[in-house]
Formats: sequence, C-alpha cells, structure tokens
Amino acid sequence: MGPLGVTLLLALISLTVALDNGLLKTPPMGWMAWERFRCDTDCANDPENCIREDLFRNMADRLVEDGWKELGYEYVIIDDCWMSRLRDEQGRLQPDPIRFPGGIAKLAKYMHDHGLKLGIYGDMGTYTCMHYPGTTLDKIELDAQTFANWSVDYLKFDGCYSNPVEQMLGYPLMSKALNATGRPIAYSCSWPAYLGGLPPNVNYTLLGDICHLWRNYYDIQDSWDSMQGIVDWYFNNQDDLQPAAGPGRWNDPDMLIIGNFGLSMDQARSQMALWAIMAAPLIMSNDLRKLDNGARAILQNKVAIAINQDSMGIQGRRLLQEKSHIEVFWRPLSKSASALVFLSRRTDMPYRYHTSLAKLNYEAGNYEAYDVFSGSTVKGLNATTEFTVSINPSGVVMWYLYPKQQSKQTERLRYQHNRGSRLTFHKAGPGHRDVL
Ligand code: GLA
Repeated sequence: MGPLGVTLLLALISLTVALDNGLLKTPPMGWMAWERFRCDTDCANDPENCIREDLFRNMADRLVEDGWKELGYEYVIIDDCWMSRLRDEQGRLQPDPIRFPGGIAKLAKYMHDHGLKLGIYGDMGTYTCMHYPGTTLDKIELDAQTFANWSVDYLKFDGCYSNPVEQMLGYPLMSKALNATGRPIAYSCSWPAYLGGLPPNVNYTLLGDICHLWRNYYDIQDSWDSMQGIVDWYFNNQDDLQPAAGPGRWNDPDMLIIGNFGLSMDQARSQMALWAIMAAPLIMSNDLRKLDNGARAILQNKVAIAINQDSMGIQGRRLLQEKSHIEVFWRPLSKSASALVFLSRRTDMPYRYHTSLAKLNYEAGNYEAYDVFSGSTVKGLNATTEFTVSINPSGVVMWYLYPKQQSKQTERLRYQHNRGSRLTFHKAGPGHRDVL
C-alpha cells in the first residue's frame, strides 16, 4: 500500500464514531428550492422566484398554514446559490448580503419558531456546482461549525469540483465534523452520484454509517422522461441499492416534481407511489404558493405518506415487468401489511391487468386492500382470487394491503360462545387501522 492508501486508511480508522444521532429514522420530508427555482438570483427583475430569504419564509408559511407540517413535511432546504462569492475575513462561508440580509441564523430561528427545520447546501470541493465557494478539505471543520452555529438542521453536501480521493476523505470528515459540533444535523451526501452510484465504486455500508441519505444518480428534471429514467435506474439496480436502505440511511432518487409543469396528474400519482415504494425522501421542489388542488391532494395523501414513512424502513422492489408494459412494485410494511403499485408504461388507453396475490408471491390467507388514490376498499381477497386493476397510461394503481384476520371481537365472541358465555360484544370495529 502506498502513502496515499495509508492516509486513506487512517482517515477511515479515525472514524470510529458513526453518525448515529437518531435522526431520520424515517425518510425526511420537506421542501427544497433547486428543481423549481434553480439559481435564479435576479431579484431585481424576478423578486417572486429568486433565491433569497423571502422565498424560504414564504414556503415555510405555506407549509405551516396549508397543512403540510402536520403531515410531516418539516424541512425547508436551501440549495445552491445562497452564498456570497467570497468567504468572510475569518474564512467563513457567508450568505449573499443583498439576498439574505437577515443572515442564516435568523432564517433558522424563523423555521424553528414555526415548528420547522432549516436545511442548507454545501459542496465538497473547490466550488459548488454553480461556482460559489466550496468546502475544501481544510475548511470542513470550520464550515460544519458555522452551520451548527447558525442552528442549521440538515446539510446537503454536494460533490462538484472535487476528485474521488478528496471525496473519499471529505465525506467521512464532514460526518465527523458535524458530529463533533454536538448539534444533531441530518447529513445528505451526494458522494455516490459522483461515483456512478454502484458498487464496487460505492461502499454502501460505509455510506450508511456516515450519512443519513445520499443521492445515487442524476438530477431530476421537470419531465416524465427524467422521472422514468430515474425509476428505471433505481429498480434495474435494486439488488445493490435496496439492501443499503433502512432507518437512518436512505437512497435519495431526488426531489418530488409534483405540482410543476412536466407531469400529468396520472404521472404525478406515479411519482408519489414509486417514491413511497422506494422509501425515498419526500422533498418537494415546487411553488407551494401556486399549487393546484390536484397536486396538493396527491402530495398530501395520508396513506401514501404513511407507506413512505413506515417504521420498518424497508425499501421496496420491482417484482415484475410484463410484456404488456405493466410493472408491479412491492414494499413490505409493519403489521404484516404491504404496498403494491401497478404502473403502466403504455401510451394507449387504461389497461385492464389481471393477476392474483399468489402470482405476486403472497402467501395463502385472507386480505383486504385500500386503493390509495381512489379511496375504495377491495374486500374478500385471498391469495388465489383473480382480480383486475385498470391502470391509466403512465399512471398507477396503488394498494395498501393487509391481512384480514378475524377481528379480535369476532374471535372472542366465538370463544365466549363456545364456552356458553352470555356476554355480548359490540360490533367489530374497523379492521386494520395502522395506516388508514
Ligand atoms: C447538483 C445537484 C443538484 C443541485 C445542483 C446545484 O447538480 O445534484 O441537486 O444541488 O447541483 O447547483
């Protein structure tokens, strides 16, 4: 092993403390500026949409007043282009003074006063992707401490303008530096996206120990094509990616683009459903001030959110790709429940897909399904029951599926009855209520 290898090894061995600060036991939920607002810094001509403190306060107000916060959407995350082009006299990062006159600490306080959390963006490298000051290896501790001093709750650490050796050193060092501040800060690493996202280049065991979530693949754009490309990549590589996820360690297929310009309502439901199956962060990048009711209903669907946030934190998988261009996805959930998504890649008309739970590897038993987007319940299923779902082109049908045991009351009633008891019982309550 050469001197570089030894240095790397030492850097890794010194990381005896993993980033286990109890954060993000379920995938983070919130809002992030990038996909919708990019690097718009033209506040003179586009004051509504430029990256400045008002934009983040506006979004925070919407999260609180329009019911998002109580559903779990709590992080407001600043992306690139918040910085001044120069560090201050002490070498610290500082926000652009015109666009963030109150400073980041004040913005963090605004979030905290409203029961929200603030995220910020940095870059392991010489520059951020949009050429603002980066965090070189010598600046890691200083920048971690600066973020902690501002009471930031989440760091997205990008990887533009660095090489693989710097990344190999820098991402673990930032984890350690954040830990050392004593402030619980969620740590999102873009590292794997710069290494092709797959083993052997990416070591997901190490990543899970040092980061809470990580970007594996290219940026999402406002289009169905972009979203499909991401979905294909994640599920084509599910054998490598799916086992990497779990409570406190999540794959991040990038932001939700629901409510923007590129997705139809059916496609928007597809994104919500597949992000729930993937246990992906639910981080919207849209304009919460201008959301239509259709997009809002999809993003605020309580059952889809509950599936995404399931406490077991097991990422789902693609079960089937049919010749008919129907795909079936599955995620196991707590309390013996599961989620199924039937996705149509067709471009003609709603497709009537016939199958049974047995064909989808379900064990014998009785089941009931709640159709997440229609709100109807499918009763009386057993594993061999043949059923049909009608799936719109580029749309989904999503089921929350649970075993239908005899309700406790019915069981007790039978037991009492067998013993000749004369006790009476109330009508059995609603069945499985964990998610619904
Ligand atoms: C990279 C990231 C994006 C965004 C931009 C900002 O492309 O992947 O999510 O943060 O940089 O410049």
